Amino acid sequence: MRARGGLVLAWLCVATAASVAAQGVSPPVCPQAAAGRCFWNGSGVGEYIYTVDGTRVRIEFADGGHFYIKCLDNLTLTNSALPRFDVQLRVKSAFLNSCPVAGGSYSAALEVLNVVVLEKLTVMGPVHIGRPQLARLEGLASLMLVGAELETDTLDAMPGLQRLHLQNLRVPSGALDTLPSALQVLEMDRTGASLTAAQLRRLPELREVLVRDSERAAVEPAGALHKIALEAPTSSAHVPHRLLPSLRILVLKGWDERSPKPWQDCDQLEELYTNNAAAETLPADWLRACPNLKLLSLRAGRLRALPAGLLDAARDLHTLDLLGNRLHALPSGLFAVNKALRSLNLSSNNFTKELFASLETVTSLNELRLNNNVHLTSACGGDSDSVRGISMLKDMKNLTELSLRNTSAKVICRDWRDNMLQLQTLDLSKNPITVLTYTDLQFGSSVVVNLSGSNVTRLLYSEQDYNSVVRGESRASADIRAKFALVCDCHAYWAAAALRARPHHVRLQAVRCAAGGDLAAAPDARLTCPAPQLCAPACHCATRPHAAPPTQPPAQPPTQAPNKPPQHALHVRCANVTHMPRLAAAAADYAQSLQLSDNNISHVGVNDLPPHILELDLRRNQISRLDVETATALASGPQQLWLGGNPLACDCRAEPALSVLRAAAALRDNATCPAQAQCGAAPRTALLLGGVLLALGAAAALLALLALPAARLRIKLALHAWGWLPARESDDGLRFDAFVSFSHGDERFVREQLVARLESGPAPYRLCLHYRDWAPGGWIPAQIAGSVRASRRTLAVVSEHFLRSAWACAELREAHALALAEREPRLVVLLLEDPARLPLDDKLRGYLASNTYVRWGDPWFWQKLRRALPRGRCAPPEPLPPAGVGPAPPAARELLPKLPCDDQESLNLKSLDPIT
Ligand SMILES: *[C@@H]1O[C@H](CO)[C@@H](O)[C@H](O)[C@H]1NC(C)=O
Ligand SMILES: *[C@@H]1O[C@H](CO)[C@@H](O)[C@H](O)[C@H]1NC(C)=O
Ligand SMILES: *[C@@H]1O[C@H](CO)[C@@H](O)[C@H](O)[C@H]1NC(C)=O
Ligand SMILES: *[C@@H]1O[C@H](CO)[C@@H](O)[C@H](O)[C@H]1NC(C)=O
Ligand SMILES: *[C@@H]1O[C@H](CO)[C@@H](O)[C@H](O)[C@H]1NC(C)=O
Ligand SMILES: *[C@@H]1O[C@H](CO)[C@@H](O)[C@H](O)[C@H]1NC(C)=O
Ligand SMILES: *[C@@H]1O[C@H](CO)[C@@H](O)[C@H](O)[C@H]1NC(C)=O
Repeated sequence: MRARGGLVLAWLCVATAASVAAQGVSPPVCPQAAAGRCFWNGSGVGEYIYTVDGTRVRIEFADGGHFYIKCLDNLTLTNSALPRFDVQLRVKSAFLNSCPVAGGSYSAALEVLNVVVLEKLTVMGPVHIGRPQLARLEGLASLMLVGAELETDTLDAMPGLQRLHLQNLRVPSGALDTLPSALQVLEMDRTGASLTAAQLRRLPELREVLVRDSERAAVEPAGALHKIALEAPTSSAHVPHRLLPSLRILVLKGWDERSPKPWQDCDQLEELYTNNAAAETLPADWLRACPNLKLLSLRAGRLRALPAGLLDAARDLHTLDLLGNRLHALPSGLFAVNKALRSLNLSSNNFTKELFASLETVTSLNELRLNNNVHLTSACGGDSDSVRGISMLKDMKNLTELSLRNTSAKVICRDWRDNMLQLQTLDLSKNPITVLTYTDLQFGSSVVVNLSGSNVTRLLYSEQDYNSVVRGESRASADIRAKFALVCDCHAYWAAAALRARPHHVRLQAVRCAAGGDLAAAPDARLTCPAPQLCAPACHCATRPHAAPPTQPPAQPPTQAPNKPPQHALHVRCANVTHMPRLAAAAADYAQSLQLSDNNISHVGVNDLPPHILELDLRRNQISRLDVETATALASGPQQLWLGGNPLACDCRAEPALSVLRAAAALRDNATCPAQAQCGAAPRTALLLGGVLLALGAAAALLALLALPAARLRIKLALHAWGWLPARESDDGLRFDAFVSFSHGDERFVREQLVARLESGPAPYRLCLHYRDWAPGGWIPAQIAGSVRASRRTLAVVSEHFLRSAWACAELREAHALALAEREPRLVVLLLEDPARLPLDDKLRGYLASNTYVRWGDPWFWQKLRRALPRGRCAPPEPLPPAGVGPAPPAARELLPKLPCDDQESLNLKSLDPIT
């Protein structure tokens, strides 16, 4: 019964093992005769576990690759219960770990397991190996013995051996005198033995010797060696200074020479490595006999200085590695004759800035590593973090890697960006680089710039930089890896604007403010710097630049006070005030935001509102009454207005002002009372009448102010003094020459005649066309108002369609109103049909009677039209910024109420089609 159970188990074992086998040879199986002594316990990837006579055996194999077996507890490889392969397994190498063969041989034992080894045998573990154990392995080229116990004549069994690796074992004395004569590579790893010239001479084929020891390593060069590698602790690797004419590579880790002598018989030496060497200096003629040296690596030594002329003989040197010494300077002309130097590593020394001068002429380099020279400092621009000059490396145009990690560098030099067009890696990590400018990010190559290990606190763009980003001129080739913890104030404004306009104009990771949040998402009000000199008492004033849409380059450079950033917008916040703040004239002109909530302001007058205000917060004050004039100015001035929490009176006297506010698009809260029905028909009449009258009044007031030459001059002088006068063209700075107002029914005429003709030719006009230049989704009345004010003229294409279109009509009135206010012929009427046939209302009829109009069909139509329109410029039109993103142009001040055309209902917002 017992035997039968064993059989069943063995069968299961085979079945399961076979099912997981890779294609080709199946894993070994327990021999049938060993039922009860051998069990399969499971498998991993290419790994199989068995229990043989109560001890675990691990087997790994890869068909054609390797066979590995590990025995434990005195299990021998000759044990008859060991699992074996059904089909012969042929592998390049076999590893036998802790598996003795006692009196037998490894070849016989492997034969029983059905394994054939073709190239290399490795025997590990405390096993005794004599000649019998290695019998019949003559065909193997490579043998590795680890931790085994050898006899003097053990290796005689394998006369054809080409590679021998002895590790962690004692070599019996005399064993090295009779090494297989075919040996080509000999490695002795912790064997306590050295190699003498006599031993090496008996090995005519030997090309490579490696001696690695924990105490001492020595070789007397002899024979025809190509490579000698000695590795030992510091000062314990010894090789005589007379080398071998055949030697190509010499590796000396822990070289013992304190006062090295010049190498002799060094003619063919191409690569010389030392590591942990004891020498503090080298003789000038150290390499004189080594004319073929290509690579010199003297790492982690104690070198304090190099002799002049050290490399003069090694003209073809392409790699020099001096990492981790104590050098602080290079001798004069060290590389004078080395025209092929490609890689230079001077990291982890104590070099200073003078090093750059020593490297100036080494222009053949591909890689330059200067890491961890903490006194190196910036290669350009002195110690200042503001000057980005040209470094002494400027002629290294073939560099692909420049590493300056931890070198106290403060800036990115200009030549690294502009000259090194092959650069792939620029490592500036662990440096105090905290200020980056726009130009710092403009690389000519697709380099990865590593700036990790410090926080960038300033990202400085100028207005010109912003404009060039918007024009798409930024180079996003470099991948800049920096961590940003920016001071997000007025100095970060243009960078923020550029990132908003074109987020991918440079390749940067998250550009974040130290106080939290992305720079691009920071509200304009946060990107300000305090400006107490501009401020009224009890108020806090902060300025920032103002992103006017980019215009053509100014005719002459703007006059600016030196060192003063162009600050064009003013944010004012007041606490504990009872009146609207009185701002200086210059300040008032640039005030864009007044934060006045939670004060005790009881009166707001039309003159209290700065002319370019965009945001006005008057919540929770004591305002009980507003006159219609002020309400109108409030409704049409700021883009955002808050009035909640004021004790506004809700009587019939207040109703005209309230109804203006109710219609105000800017109002962000429901501060006003519901309409007072009992006040009768007054509201609309009042609105219309009051609106018109007051608009004219306000416009007149503005004109009066601007008409006072003294006041105008004072304002201008103040602006110049602050460097605030924006760069203007000689004209009025308006974006468009003409806003074409037309009805949908006449679109074909507009596209095919007007636009085709006016936007072409030598002096094309810049037309504002709703189907092209309006931001999608913008509030239509605001877009009408913005377009009229951003254009020199409004060209109304008047037809029957037009007069029936509420929107077109609104546009006409807007332009008409502005024309009245500015006493300028802003409105140009183009009649598509005979005026007599058009249903003109009295106002328009009056306008046409006193102003010229152009009639389609007139033989002088185009001449007349061009005379009526201001002269065009030679630039394509730019789209209007989306509503609420770009501030309105300076002239886009809305002083006039938005007049409904026929009646208020027709201006409802349901339709997004501007022309009904
Ligand atoms: C291996 O399998 C045998 C037979 O199934 C079992 O007796 C032994 O405990 C197993 N060994 C291990 C380590 O799982
Ligand atoms: C292995 O053999 C040695 C001597 O040959 C013996 O001292 C040791 O106890 C054995 N170990 C086991 C686990 O049998
Ligand atoms: C490195 O050089 C600086 C001066 O350049 C010197 O003060 C410092 O002691 C040097 N450090 C070492 C370790 O030699
Ligand atoms: C830079 O590399 C090019 C192409 O490999 C080579 O022709 C040129 O001589 C190199 N420049 C220098 C200064 O070595
Ligand atoms: C960089 O900023 C982070 C937090 O923003 C801080 O934890 C870190 O210490 C800073 N690193 C340096 C080098 O200043
Ligand atoms: C406002 O005035 C009150 C009383 O006059 C005072 O306690 C408070 O500190 C003032 N607040 C500010 C911000 O000045
Ligand atoms: C303002 O709105 C709030 C909530 O939307 C409402 O409770 C309140 O009555 C409104 N006030 C007026 C004056 O309409």
